[in-house]
Amino acid sequence: MVSVSFGIASKLSHLKGADFLSSSDLSSEEMKALFDLSIQFKDENRRIDLGNRVLGLIFSKASTRTRVSFQVAMARLGGQTIDLNPQISQLGRGEPLKDTARVLSRYCDVLAIRTYAHQGLKEYASWASVPVINALTDLEHPCQALADYLTMYECFGELQGQTIAYVGDGNNVANSLMICGALLGVNVQIASPKGFEPLPSIVKKARQLISSDSKINLSNNPIDAVRGANAIYTDVWASMGQEKEKFERLNAFKNFCVGKEMLNEAENNAIVMHCLPAHRGEEISEEVFECDASRIFDQAENRLHVQQALLAIVLGGL
Ligand code: CP
Ligand code: NVA
Repeated sequence: MVSVSFGIASKLSHLKGADFLSSSDLSSEEMKALFDLSIQFKDENRRIDLGNRVLGLIFSKASTRTRVSFQVAMARLGGQTIDLNPQISQLGRGEPLKDTARVLSRYCDVLAIRTYAHQGLKEYASWASVPVINALTDLEHPCQALADYLTMYECFGELQGQTIAYVGDGNNVANSLMICGALLGVNVQIASPKGFEPLPSIVKKARQLISSDSKINLSNNPIDAVRGANAIYTDVWASMGQEKEKFERLNAFKNFCVGKEMLNEAENNAIVMHCLPAHRGEEISEEVFECDASRIFDQAENRLHVQQALLAIVLGGL
């Protein structure tokens, strides 16, 4: 287990009240301190009681991990969660987002929002007077990337110089992995079929954030991407909101299933990662999903610990 560093509060206390909309909203130093705090929570070496604060979840898309891990994280901090979605609130009947954000800010101490357009999330943040956390948009999934890099940190004891290969759609998960990886000094190698690469604007943003000599490489060849990697990562081929493209995508991605032959090209101690939910036989084979190198359920668990740390930080509990 990696050691716990001192000075967590001094590195993070200025983030009280801050939004977390993108992986680029934290510096590498802040991310590392957040990992240390997450490990303290995970090892039960730290208790923070925020005293009855309330988290509001506004989820316009389905969720198992994010919803439950936020609820449990808030409970462990002594707080409560209110779980809303457009179907059960007036949002679904057309109440403007700017009114919803201002009303919920009068009841809740922090909001975690899962929606489609990233612009919608930014609008919530601009109208809310409490911190807003990105619980997934079409553009980014920054809480996921924190859990993913914490998992790599636990496996390898360091992140700088490690290589993660992401095989699949250049989607929200890939975007946050690139940005977060750039900040943490991790080499990120992405392989996607032609036409499904990450957005050039996000690749450019991530490359501008590289502080060490790490690299972000894009390719259309999964074998090139996984060669020598310390971690192989994949995600669904059709994200939420892209259901109508499922059959077109099944065809476009048919050579991008992470199977044993890809794992054999990676480092001997390489780990297998997936944000879940997974489609076995599509983006990942059953054999690789269930193999000894899989750290998929450690990633899922770490969602809880990083989000507990994030909530403690933005709610000023340090
Ligand atoms: N990985 C993830 O965000 O899972 P959920 O969609 O279940 O929240
Ligand atoms: N890319 C996927 C991630 C789900 C956690 C989606 O957006 O549906």
